[in-house]
Amino acid sequence: MTIRLSRRRFLAATSALGLGSLTGPKVLAAENGAVDLVAQPVSHSLVGESGPASDLWGYNGAVPGPVLRMRRGETMTVRFRNELDVPSSVHWHGIRGINAMDGVAGLTQDPVPPGESFEYQVKAPDAGTYWYHAHTNSWDQVVRGLYGALIVDEPQPAFPPEADIVLILDDWRVDGEGRFDTASLGNMMDWSHGGRLGNILTVNGVTQPDIPVPSGAWLRLRLVNACNARILAIDPARIGATVIALDGQPVDPGAAATNAPIPFAPAQRMDLLVRFDKTGSVALEEVSGSPFVFTTLDVGSGTGADAAAPILPGNAIPAPDLQNAKAFDLVMEGGAMGQMGQLVYNGRVQTRVDFMQNGQVWGFNGVANMTPDPLFSVGRNETVAITIDNRTAFAHAMHTHGHHFRIVERNGTAVDEPAWRDTFLSVPGEVTRIAFVADNPGKWLFHCHMLEHAAAGMTTWFEVT
Ligand code: C2O
Ligand code: CU
Repeated sequence: MTIRLSRRRFLAATSALGLGSLTGPKVLAAENGAVDLVAQPVSHSLVGESGPASDLWGYNGAVPGPVLRMRRGETMTVRFRNELDVPSSVHWHGIRGINAMDGVAGLTQDPVPPGESFEYQVKAPDAGTYWYHAHTNSWDQVVRGLYGALIVDEPQPAFPPEADIVLILDDWRVDGEGRFDTASLGNMMDWSHGGRLGNILTVNGVTQPDIPVPSGAWLRLRLVNACNARILAIDPARIGATVIALDGQPVDPGAAATNAPIPFAPAQRMDLLVRFDKTGSVALEEVSGSPFVFTTLDVGSGTGADAAAPILPGNAIPAPDLQNAKAFDLVMEGGAMGQMGQLVYNGRVQTRVDFMQNGQVWGFNGVANMTPDPLFSVGRNETVAITIDNRTAFAHAMHTHGHHFRIVERNGTAVDEPAWRDTFLSVPGEVTRIAFVADNPGKWLFHCHMLEHAAAGMTTWFEVT
């Protein structure tokens, strides 16, 4: 089952509405180191101001929520209040932060009940592009809009604000008029296949916005894939751009150049560097199928050509010691068209009837979802190497909480990939080995970021003591 993105229906409508230019979500810088973040129902049109409103959930009245902005090394206090009628919590994706502040309901905190508050201390050791999102029933809460960008500035911000552009991409499943489809939430067909896919693609909460940028300036385009399950693809060369960071962490310009397009999985980030010397419009395209314009940059006048491109300073992440690594295996099984032997859930081998009732269809090493014991437990500062064997018929976007890792082997062959990642794409039949130094004590989730897969079994955890 494939759901294709469609522009047919909305392109005419949105241009007829004469959508003005959009500068993107509001930026919330900490005042005295603190911000308020309120989860609440939001009525929002995904297809332009005059389009029909959808009943969504957002932060501070907006979808996506405000851009939270802080500086490397700082700690931001986020006073979270839950004004939804379901429990919620907030996770700071990609931040190698404090375990008790990680926001994972059921592992690092109790979910925040309706009407109650929780104060997060978000400590950011690394500069870069991150995001925050709900982490209580994430498959349901993130798809309704509970997410936003979290930007950690370098000690000297490398780009001026007008050249530093946040683009959060999300696909939404909408009806013929562009209203969010709530009826199909939790559809087992999605859970057992590729996850919930949408039929429109928004940038900063709206389809195909026009975003003003100056000419002659080096621009930093911070792309975030906030889709529940859709793997996007970006070809930076189409606009003359280069990749300067992945999952928040700087890469040497050019080092990430691959045979484009570059797959862009759920939860991943990709920062692009580009300069346009002429005024006019530049289309940004998603290229997993036939090229699809997701936003237009309106290049206006600038102040003349910037010479040297800014270089992002690296962050201090300890290098894994592969010789002395503690090795672990993770075999992915299950799902539609996949093999599955026995699947244990809540300590019990599932029967055919259980499968249907519990909605558990994926397993890691034959076990679905959370267990009282971690997948592994290691001492602080030990190197961990995990070999992930994808024996399913689907791709999965595996995410480690609290740590960035290197990909060190693919299908048994050592590779030297330039990037630190917090989420990587595992394709069917591939065996991938990742490694990191477990330098951050606590209980950390390790799961597929196709959020329906995570809910349907692909969630485990590890402990750093
Ligand atoms: Cu964005 Cu558990 O993660
Ligand atoms: Cu998955």
